[in-house]
Amino acid sequence: MSSQHAADALCWFGASGDLARKMTFPALYAMARRGRLTFPVIGVAHSDWTLDDLTDRARQSIVDHGGIDDPAAFDHLVGSLRYVDGDYSDPSTFTRLRHELDGVGSRHPAHYLAVPPVLFAEVVQGLGASGCAEGGRVVVEKPFGRDLASAQELNRVIHEVFDESAVYRIDHYLGKQEVLNLVYLRFANSLFEPVWNRDHIASVQITMAEDFGVQGRGSFYDSVGALRDVVQNHLFQVVALLAMEPPVGGGMEALRDEKERVFRAMDRVCPADVVRGQFDGYLDEPGVAANSDVETFAAVRLNIDSWRWAGVPWLLRAGKQLPEHVTEVLIEFRKPPHKVFTEPQLATDGPNYLRFRLSPSPVIAMGVRSLAPGDHMHGAMSELVLCDDVVDERLPYERLLGEAMTGDPFMFAREDGVEAAWAVVDGVLDAPVAVTPYMAGTWGPAGADALLPPGQHWHEPVSPLA
Ligand code: BG6
Repeated sequence: MSSQHAADALCWFGASGDLARKMTFPALYAMARRGRLTFPVIGVAHSDWTLDDLTDRARQSIVDHGGIDDPAAFDHLVGSLRYVDGDYSDPSTFTRLRHELDGVGSRHPAHYLAVPPVLFAEVVQGLGASGCAEGGRVVVEKPFGRDLASAQELNRVIHEVFDESAVYRIDHYLGKQEVLNLVYLRFANSLFEPVWNRDHIASVQITMAEDFGVQGRGSFYDSVGALRDVVQNHLFQVVALLAMEPPVGGGMEALRDEKERVFRAMDRVCPADVVRGQFDGYLDEPGVAANSDVETFAAVRLNIDSWRWAGVPWLLRAGKQLPEHVTEVLIEFRKPPHKVFTEPQLATDGPNYLRFRLSPSPVIAMGVRSLAPGDHMHGAMSELVLCDDVVDERLPYERLLGEAMTGDPFMFAREDGVEAAWAVVDGVLDAPVAVTPYMAGTWGPAGADALLPPGQHWHEPVSPLA
């Protein structure tokens, strides 16, 4: 089944769950406030709930996320809700869903799978067998598989019921305005493209630092670790947007074609390209195995095997319990090829750079040298801040659910890209590099420095809230 048209109902599996409370209800409420909640929302869960319970959960969730500042929008959200309770292994659950869909006159439902990954296949098969999938699409939550083989298997199961054009795989980083801006900046300006290659760029660093631990998600986190949780998906998507070629032809699918190609161009990561760390105290977290060697920090050196990027190291690191909560990209340019000025600082100071802070508040800055006052031709590095604190108040989930309903696939991961991204890290997931402990509040194991080219250090982004 292919989907080119807008969906006319949202069937939301896992409506009683944690993600629903934290992300989905606030996103639906935000849509209602903007007049974009124009479809019925049918919650599905196996919780022995009624519609009243779902409504209570909606109220609680929105109160917890800033409050109900627009009662009419909240009433509209509540008026859009329907509910089906049942076991996903019981065909009658899907019969009742079909009945609800008929009741609201839906012919093109979007089925949003906000359920644990072990249930994905069961729900998809239930949708297929009951006819609920007909004319519809499926929106699949992260994580999409836990390695290459499981992602391939999941794709196979989904494709028995839904055509690839009807599959929307969520990576919430693709719903972030600051992340999408990377690709917008590149291709809506002529300034960047001439220098966006190995001749001018020396290295790219991406740091995703969190100054907190696993926040009660110990048992989930202990089954994934940093590589699976954020590197293979969120950070790789950022890399792809930065590294992709300009699209040929128009349209968002052309843009997505180029993005997905980057994953295929990435060399497979080998143990020498990875450093894994675990913060002291992780083993005491509820839900974490006493002898767990799951990493809460990962640093990875990537090589993109293409004409544009050959020889440019892509250096990624992500970790919990680091000193800051900040995600930042640093693109370092090559030094000037010829010494015109003799000031000693020129040799030791870093080169020009572009810095994209993606969160918590976006910054785009360019590091340049300029002449300092005084008798000598000596200068200093300073930053040209291109854009600061331009925050789009739309939540990533509001954007993503909106795009999935409209039927625009650009912000979603595609089958080939997801599998290629898993293939890149597959060799270091289950035969992993030993994990090194690090103290909470530090930048992870010192061994991560060994991934850098000689003379380089990890850029330490500073959160504006610090
Ligand atoms: C999630 C991970 O996908 O992304 C979390 O499971 C992580 O562990 C989160 O904290 C980070 O997202 P954001 O939007 O806060 O950077």
